[in-house]
Amino acid sequence: MTLPGDVSPREKIARMVRVDHAGEYGAKRIYQGQIAVLGRGPKGDILRHMQAQEQHHLDVFSNLIADRRVRPTVLLPFWHVAGFMLGAATAAMGERAAMACTVAVEETIDAHYLAQSAELGPEEANLRETIEQFRAEELEHRDIGLAHDAEHMPGYRLLSAIIKTGCKVAIAVSERV
Ligand SMILES: [Fe+2]
Ligand SMILES: [Fe+2]
Repeated sequence: MTLPGDVSPREKIARMVRVDHAGEYGAKRIYQGQIAVLGRGPKGDILRHMQAQEQHHLDVFSNLIADRRVRPTVLLPFWHVAGFMLGAATAAMGERAAMACTVAVEETIDAHYLAQSAELGPEEANLRETIEQFRAEELEHRDIGLAHDAEHMPGYRLLSAIIKTGCKVAIAVSERV
């Protein structure tokens, strides 16, 4: 039964592809912002490694946007700036703050991908596999953040809470517009 306010299965998938494309775009920009500040330092290589993986995630979702004729979010220009600023600002606070940002963002994405994956049926096995594969890499990014001392940053819990809230708002908005 379809209730008022429910979205069609097709629209449901479109929203998933739209928000994932937006999220991977934002993730890439966060790492670019961090690299702009810390790229020449000891964390440069690991940041470039994560950025390269986000670029791959973004490329796959860009193809899905085109193949499935999904309209990208109108907020891409905003995420372009906001993602970079979040990355650059946390990096300017220090290496551990940059890693705390990574942990907060990647944990949020992990939960988001897990929820999506649970919603996808066998008719979307390919999409689910893609999401699961990317989720595993986001968890690697989180682990990299933890291994680089994220939690020992002064104010870690507050920064983490702020970033997670921001990510959740960004996700909710980018599904729809
Ligand atoms: Fe990603
Ligand atoms: Fe990631």
